Amino acid sequence: MATSKTKTVWFCKACGNESPKWMGRCPACGEWNTMVEETVATGKKNASAAVSVPGSGHKPMPLSHIDSSVENRISLNNGEVDRILGGGLVEGSLVLIGGEPGIGKSTLSLQIPLHCPQLKTLYVTGEESAKQVKLRAARIGGDDSNCMIYSETLMENIIAEARAMMPDLMVVDSVQTMFSQNVESSPGSVTQIKETAAMLLRFAKETGVPVILIGHITKEGSIAGPKILEHIVDVVLQFEGDNRGTYRLLRSIKNRFGSTSELAVFEMTGKGLREVSNPSEMLIPMHEEGLSGVAVSAMLDGTRPFLIEVQSLVSSAAYGTPQRSATGFDVRRLNMLLAVLEKRAGFKLGVKDVFLNMAGGLKVSDPACDLAVVSAVLSSNFDFAIPADVCFAGEIGLSGEIRPVAQTERRIIEAARLGFRKVFVSGFSSLEGLSDMDMGNIEVVKVGDVPALCRTLFKPED
Ligand code: TYD
Ligand code: MG
Repeated sequence: MATSKTKTVWFCKACGNESPKWMGRCPACGEWNTMVEETVATGKKNASAAVSVPGSGHKPMPLSHIDSSVENRISLNNGEVDRILGGGLVEGSLVLIGGEPGIGKSTLSLQIPLHCPQLKTLYVTGEESAKQVKLRAARIGGDDSNCMIYSETLMENIIAEARAMMPDLMVVDSVQTMFSQNVESSPGSVTQIKETAAMLLRFAKETGVPVILIGHITKEGSIAGPKILEHIVDVVLQFEGDNRGTYRLLRSIKNRFGSTSELAVFEMTGKGLREVSNPSEMLIPMHEEGLSGVAVSAMLDGTRPFLIEVQSLVSSAAYGTPQRSATGFDVRRLNMLLAVLEKRAGFKLGVKDVFLNMAGGLKVSDPACDLAVVSAVLSSNFDFAIPADVCFAGEIGLSGEIRPVAQTERRIIEAARLGFRKVFVSGFSSLEGLSDMDMGNIEVVKVGDVPALCRTLFKPED
């Protein structure tokens, strides 16, 4: 219960750091202008402090006495979600699904119980009315006989109801709308968000009920939210993608029970989210003949190889300073690649505007995309189309050399499987584990440096 004594503290919206006074820059994370004022009740035990001890009354015990049998996992009847969770939802885990508004968080978390009628689910909605949830469920389809909808925002009531019902799965939409009486600030504030997550974590650990928690983030990260929660929860899944397009990417950025940097791809349809188990299909639209400025990269995200189209446009700069802009690719890396082209291969791109775009709204950090980026830029610069059945996998070093990348063999196999006829890789790749059968009809072209790439790729037809 709230006590009569309160005090004012300042919280950083980005990292949750607490400070007794306002500061222009957060000393913990270094972000500017992120401190917000909140009142907190004093003189009571901080509820979140007791969180890391699930099931009170535990004593220290020898490691050898601890039961190490594998965690119980619940399959969610959704191959992509099960895969990024590391093989299903672990009992008693707290999973945060973050993403911008409208990206599909509520759709996914309602779709899961509707497609798993064997799971008794408590779906708590603080954002939408029960009627709106019903309308959404009607769009998605599935079996709703075991899914209880609870429209409530007071955490004490929610936990009491959940303890009485003991569901197999609990969904809370969203952390920003929930509040606890223990904390004297408004819903969505840093202290309320922390308290809500702490209460749900305690519930999950004590009862073994897995909880899916939804949290919003905005483009600027301007509301308190998932960033603060990342260290409290067990798993963080982040929805990405352009919410005007139909593809949605769900990325695992933290997972106490599986690997991170896994990626799942969905398509938003009229009936909810459809799993896209072969992402290459969406990322490489099949052009009959090649277009200039387009190159396909055989990239790896997490553990899965797939092919993605890289598009580039190079044009004469209209104003004094040429523009460099990249969507889905680090613009500093683009600048570096352009400098390499200029210095090591003699292309005068310093006076050109260069735009770069990764297909499908994907954010790419795999260095193996360098080779496709450079090829797309050169292709646009010369207005010379690269044939549509050619792809690339290689990193470019500062001296213009093309370096081998991790798991080149798997990239080649994926490219061969998708019908590509030629793949450019580093001349230094060993390619030991590759059998003729894996390769199918694909020809592997080894290139040592950027000038060699240009000679091979853009050689005049004879
Ligand atoms: P939603 O799940 O409400 O987003 P969030 O909870 O992340 O804010 O997604 C809403 C968008 O998805 C909205 O623009 C409508 C669209 N949508 C479909 O296209 N098909 C569907 O079957 C459903 C349920 C939603
Ligand atoms: Mg929603």
